[in-house]
Amino acid sequence: MKKSCKRLLACLLCVSLLLGCGLFGAAEDPAAPAAGETAPFRLSCTVNGDPATQRGFCWYTRAETPSVLELTLADGTPVDAAVDYADVTEWNGNYMHKALATGLQPGTTYIYRLGDGTTFTEPGVFVTDDRDDRVEFLAVADIQASSLENFQRGAAAVDAAFRTLPGAEFMLNLGDFTNDSTNEEWDYYAQAMDALSVKMTLAPIAGNHDGLGVWHWFENLFCLDTSRSVQNLNGVNYSFDYGNVHIAVVNTNDLLSVSLAQLRWLRNDLNGTDKDWKIICMHKSPYTLGKDGKWPDAMYLQRALTKVADDCGVDLVLSGHDHQYLRTKPLKGNKLDPDGTTYVLCGTAGTKRYEVRPFLADHFMKTEFIDALTVQRDGWANYWDGEDWEQSDPNNIGGCFNTFSVEGGTLTLKSYILRDEPAEDGSDVITNIDTLTLTKETGQNKITYTGDNTTGTAAYALNVVPSFFALAGYAFGEWLPKFLAMLPDLIKVYSETGIF
Ligand SMILES: [Fe+2]
Repeated sequence: MKKSCKRLLACLLCVSLLLGCGLFGAAEDPAAPAAGETAPFRLSCTVNGDPATQRGFCWYTRAETPSVLELTLADGTPVDAAVDYADVTEWNGNYMHKALATGLQPGTTYIYRLGDGTTFTEPGVFVTDDRDDRVEFLAVADIQASSLENFQRGAAAVDAAFRTLPGAEFMLNLGDFTNDSTNEEWDYYAQAMDALSVKMTLAPIAGNHDGLGVWHWFENLFCLDTSRSVQNLNGVNYSFDYGNVHIAVVNTNDLLSVSLAQLRWLRNDLNGTDKDWKIICMHKSPYTLGKDGKWPDAMYLQRALTKVADDCGVDLVLSGHDHQYLRTKPLKGNKLDPDGTTYVLCGTAGTKRYEVRPFLADHFMKTEFIDALTVQRDGWANYWDGEDWEQSDPNNIGGCFNTFSVEGGTLTLKSYILRDEPAEDGSDVITNIDTLTLTKETGQNKITYTGDNTTGTAAYALNVVPSFFALAGYAFGEWLPKFLAMLPDLIKVYSETGIF
């Protein structure tokens, strides 16, 4: 069967399942399970190793129950895949279940249910990678909600992303799933998102609001392959190939930015692939005009992480954290360079939106680097027209999402905003705020690293002190002088607008 036919069938299946469980009505979100109930919640199906043959699953129950992953083909035929179950573990008052399915067939649509053998979730669906050079995927960031209503608004943006690119094979979430990472917030997240979560393969990226300081919070919400990575205390690092794209996920919570061990892991990882497209995903942004662009961690990324991107021929760096949409022109060595890396701050799918901090421009971020900028500030939405970022478009007041389509040597990024206010007839208003097409000659990347890229406990411990010194060196040697030089502009803006 041709891939286009398979995709169409998978899309039709997804849509019918979505309609079947009443996804499109936010008011129909299920209530959180009560104490002692066996119903699974906080559901996820994630990339875990090779997306052509494996998937990870994680779910929670209030009561201690067995873990059962039921798999069938789209026509209902039972699948005899190998499933490895982790021990059911009590975590913060609930029970965590993890399962890893291996030996799946590439390019195949699977239906699954999660449960205990008696109580199951609604059917979910995923499609394994067929290993050709075409892939479509989505990205969202920073839903960062506390209330059920705001999680539902974020879910509406995710839902709009699915409808905009129904053939998407997975979704990146660039972090800050919640605001305070409490049980109550993750339960709201589950209420708003679970019906969607079982219809997608997710690649999650840890944000600083996702349990920072509570070791393994984030890792315990998803079943990921971190076996060839650096330590995972406040987030996760991992990588995977999908189609002809290599994606490396970097945790920017480590030592409040990135550690030297992570940078070494990232460099080896990116040099260990010959996929045509290389993408880094992380939560914090090196290039931003949001409120966090003025702190040392952003600038450290702008110096240390971009060096790895430059050296390893990275095409895109995707990030979040600053709740606005900003795409740079290609950069190399912190200069404009047509052969450089494009940095995309992916906008927030949530309701917390940041104004432009104009005092950052030409201190921490050269204005000439900007190729697209849309700020989703509440009630007012400015954008960069090349001259004036006070321009406003009411269609830009809403949640942002991004679509990616790769076909051989062509990668197309399209970014959209789902307007908060629907049209008069009640229909959604979805505005394309940015389109970027990159092209390249395929088959050019070579594998130059083949060693063991794991970082042991001792090696990680030995990297902590030098990592702090490296960050401190940037902070006092480069960041502080820049911050002081910026201060008069910051004070002027603060006195006029109250933002800093
Ligand atoms: Fe953040």
